[in-house]
Amino acid sequence: MPGKNRYRDEEDVKLDAALRPTKFDDFVGQRRVVENLKVYIGAARKRKEALDHVLFSGQPGLGKTTLAALVANEMGGKFRATSGPALDRAGDLAGILTNLEEGEVLFIDEIHRLPAPVAEYLYSAMEDYAISIVIDQGPHARSVNLTLPRFTLIGATTREGLLTGPFRSRFGVVERLEPYPWEDLAKVINRSANLLGVKIEPEGTERIARRSRGTPRLANRYLRRIRDLAQVEAGNVISVAVADKGLGMLGVDERGLDAMDRKILDTLMLHGAGGPVGLKTVAVAVGEEEDTIEDVYEPYLIQQGFLRKTPRGRMATELAYQHMGARPPAAPAQPSLF
Ligand SMILES: Nc1ncnc2c1ncn2[C@@H]1O[C@H](COP(=O)(O)OP(=O)(O)OP(=O)(O)O)[C@@H](O)[C@H]1O
Ligand SMILES: [Mg+2]
Repeated sequence: MPGKNRYRDEEDVKLDAALRPTKFDDFVGQRRVVENLKVYIGAARKRKEALDHVLFSGQPGLGKTTLAALVANEMGGKFRATSGPALDRAGDLAGILTNLEEGEVLFIDEIHRLPAPVAEYLYSAMEDYAISIVIDQGPHARSVNLTLPRFTLIGATTREGLLTGPFRSRFGVVERLEPYPWEDLAKVINRSANLLGVKIEPEGTERIARRSRGTPRLANRYLRRIRDLAQVEAGNVISVAVADKGLGMLGVDERGLDAMDRKILDTLMLHGAGGPVGLKTVAVAVGEEEDTIEDVYEPYLIQQGFLRKTPRGRMATELAYQHMGARPPAAPAQPSLF
């Protein structure tokens, strides 16, 4: 999948699987979302009905896929996963839908990338648990209505804004995942360190947690690299010094920015001289896909006050200049009143 690999590489996928919580109790943070889900699941189970369709949105690596699998687990149903880009014809979707079992969870990742005709085909499946399929060809072609078992669709998206209103309104439960406070990431890190069999001192945990941009996947990724360092150089103990050295080797600075973040800011400072730079230009200059820049890098840079989006493009803020040790461009001359 284009644009995905930079922040979810193959190692991550394996590591994610090993460290992925399998019970609600192991899922750290996001209390509001988890409490809501428990209520909806409890009610659906009492009524012996399938859970309403669920949409999870939020930045990459916050736990959307993990939660979807947890929901299936709690509902006691099967979990089948696919993704928007993988379903490029309505026929592919029909094949999956007609093979679902009662109570099964169908998980569609990157649901905003579902082609419009496929999304529209989903509407009646979601609403009426029925689809029509065309059989035969030419003069014999006719459409047949099929009733589907009661299933639960769980969609995940990093770009809720790209879903159309009609599509979004067909999800009975819509939950947005927010970046985690560092205290929650500290819990994720301690749990993972335990699973990975490495000792970590509280200051080491805090250091990594504070630099992981509110993202469990990043916290786990950094922990794994720093564990390597601890194994080779520090008797398998992650002290704050080991954490610092490891983060330095990973190119993560004290504000949690990595090399790509700094490259993006550099580009804005270099090409923009304080003025806005178009997303396309940024993408070409840093060698990354536009989507990835928007989904993965910009949210944190904006949250941290380093980057501003304007109608004409992106700008580095004064804070960014300070952080990068550069001098901001002179303020544009104010029109004189006299
Ligand atoms: N709340 C959490 N508690 C503990 N670990 C978590 C939590 N959320 C995520 N993780 C860890 O981070 C990894 C990444 O989470 P997950 O794959 O669910 O993110 P995602 O939101 O689906 O990301 P993407 O948008 O890239 O698909 C998980 O495998 C798990 O190890
Ligand atoms: Mg996912």
